[in-house]
Amino acid sequence: MSKSYDIVIIGGGPGGYNCAIRAGQLGLKTACIEMRETLGGTCLNVGCIPSKALLHSSELYEAANKDFGNYGIKVEGLGIDLPKMMDGKAEAVKGLTEGVAFLFKKNKVDHIRGKGRIAGKGKVEVDGPDGKQTLEAKNIVIATGSEVTPLPGVEIDEERIVSSTGALDLKEVPKKLVLIGAGVIGLELGSVWRRLGAEVTVIEYLDRILPGMDSEITKQAQRIFRKQGMTFELSRKVTGIDKSDNGLTVKTEAADGGKEKTFDADVALVCIGRRPYTEGLGLESVGIKTDERGFIPNDQFKTGAEGVWVVGDCTHGPMLAHKAEDEGVACAERIAGKAGHVNYGAIPGVVYTHPEIAAVGATEDELKQQGRKYKTGKFSFMANSRARANHETDGMVKLLADAETDELLGAHMIGKGVGEMIAELCLALEFRAASEDIARTSHPHPTMTEAIRQAAMGVEGWTMQA
Ligand code: FAD
Ligand code: NAI
Repeated sequence: MSKSYDIVIIGGGPGGYNCAIRAGQLGLKTACIEMRETLGGTCLNVGCIPSKALLHSSELYEAANKDFGNYGIKVEGLGIDLPKMMDGKAEAVKGLTEGVAFLFKKNKVDHIRGKGRIAGKGKVEVDGPDGKQTLEAKNIVIATGSEVTPLPGVEIDEERIVSSTGALDLKEVPKKLVLIGAGVIGLELGSVWRRLGAEVTVIEYLDRILPGMDSEITKQAQRIFRKQGMTFELSRKVTGIDKSDNGLTVKTEAADGGKEKTFDADVALVCIGRRPYTEGLGLESVGIKTDERGFIPNDQFKTGAEGVWVVGDCTHGPMLAHKAEDEGVACAERIAGKAGHVNYGAIPGVVYTHPEIAAVGATEDELKQQGRKYKTGKFSFMANSRARANHETDGMVKLLADAETDELLGAHMIGKGVGEMIAELCLALEFRAASEDIARTSHPHPTMTEAIRQAAMGVEGWTMQA
C-alpha cells in the first residue's frame, strides 16, 4: 500500500529541507525526497559551505604569507597541506548535512532517498536504493534546485575543465587557472586558488564584472582583485578549449567578433551561471510548463497545477540559499493555512572574496533607470577607526535613500567583513527605516559598522569625515 502525506517535497536543499522542517513543526505529515546520498542540496554539499571553508583557509594562508609581516608577526616554514585543507572542508559539510538529517528526525519528517517524479495529481514516484515506490500527496513541493549552465562546445570533465563542483575538489594547485565568467563563483573560487598560488585569468563576456551589482562598487572590486594578481579579460568570449597532454588552450575572441586570443591553462572553470534543474520531473503529468529559461513560474509559490508548489533556484528570483530557505518556510506556512510571505526587496547578496562585497535593495543603476529621485551617502573605510587600526582600509559603504521620504532604498558595501554587516541594513529595509533612523542609532566604537552610520549621516550631509 502506498504511503500518504500532507506534503511531499522533491529536493532536500535549502528550499526543500526548510520547507520540510517547518511543515513538520506545523504538524503536517511530511516526506522529503532527495536523490543525493546526503541532505542539504547544492548549498551544503557542493556550494555555499565547501566554498566558504576553502575561502576561509586560503584567506588565512594568504594573510600569513603576505600580511603578517606588516603586523610585526614573523612566520617561518609556512606551507600548504591541501589534503588537510580539503579534510576541513569535508568535515564542515558532513557536520551540517548530518545536522539536517537530525532535524528531520526531530520534526518527524520522512527522508526518502531516490529520484522523485510527479506521476499525475497527488502522486509522486520514487526510484531509489530501496526500489520503486509511489507516494500519495495532498501537496507536492518542487524544490529541485539548479545545475551548471553548460558552455556550448566545452565539455566539463570535472578534472581539467571543471564546474564549481570540480573546482572545490582539485587535487593540486593549478599553475594556471582560467575562469570563464566573472560572476560570484568565478571570483570566489578564483580567489581560493590564486591565494594558494595559481595564476588566475578571468574571461568575461560583458565589459564589467559581477553584473547586477552596483557598478561603482564592482569597479572598486575589480581594481582590488587586479592588485591581488587576477588578470581580467573583459568583453571576450570563449569559443572552445583544446586539450593536450601539456595542458589546455582556451580559445577566445572579442565579444563583438574577431580579435582572437588564446590562453594556456592547467584548469579551466566554467562558471557562466546556473539554470533550473527539472529533468525527468514529470511536470507534463500535471500540465506545468516552464518558461523559456526553464524556470517554473509561481504565484505565492503556487504553480499552475492544483496542489503543486515550487520554491528555490528552480523558480524565479535570485539563486541564493537564503532566498530558497525563506520560500521553503513561507510555502509550508501557506500550505498550513498561514500567511507565509517573502520580502523580495530585502534579500541580501554577498560575494565572499577579500574584501567582501555585500548588497541589499536597489542599486544606483536601477534607481537611475527607474528615474527615481534619491539621495546618496557614502563612507570610505579609509576614514573608519577600526579599519585603520586593523590595516583593512580598502572599501566603502554606500547608502541610497528616497529624496523626499528618506526611506532607505539600497545598501552597497565593499570591505572586510561586510557580509556580516549587511544584516543590519536588511533589517532596516524590512522595517522601512529612513536613513536618519540609522544615522541616529548608536553603533559600537570602534567597529567597522560605524561606517554604515557615517554613510547614513552622509545622506543628509553631516558625515564626520576628515
Ligand atoms: P539545491 O540546493 O540545488 O537543492 C536541490 C536538491 O534537489 C539537490 O540536492 C538535488 O539533488 C535534489 N533533486 C533534484 N531533482 C530531484 C529529484 N527529481 N528527486 C530527488 N531529488 C532531486 N548561495 C548563497 O546564498 N550563498 C553562498 O555563499 C552560495 N555559494 C554557492 C557556491 C557555489 C559553488 C554554488 C554552486 C552555489 C552557491 N550558492 C550560494 C547558491 C545556493 O547553493 C543555491 O541558491 C541553493 O542551494 C538553492 O537551494 P535549492 O533548495 O533551491 O536547490
Ligand atoms: P553568475 O551569474 O554570478 O555569473 C556568470 C558570469 O558569466 C556573468 O558575469 C556573465 O556575464 C558571464 N558569462 C555568461 N556567459 C558567458 C560566456 N559565454 N563567456 C564568458 N562569460 C560569460 O554565475 P555563477 O558565477 O556561475 O554563479 C551561479 C549562481 O550561483 C550565482 O548567480 C549565485 O546565484 C549563486 N552563487 C552565489 C554565491 C554567493 O551568494 N556568495 C556564491 C556562488 C554562487
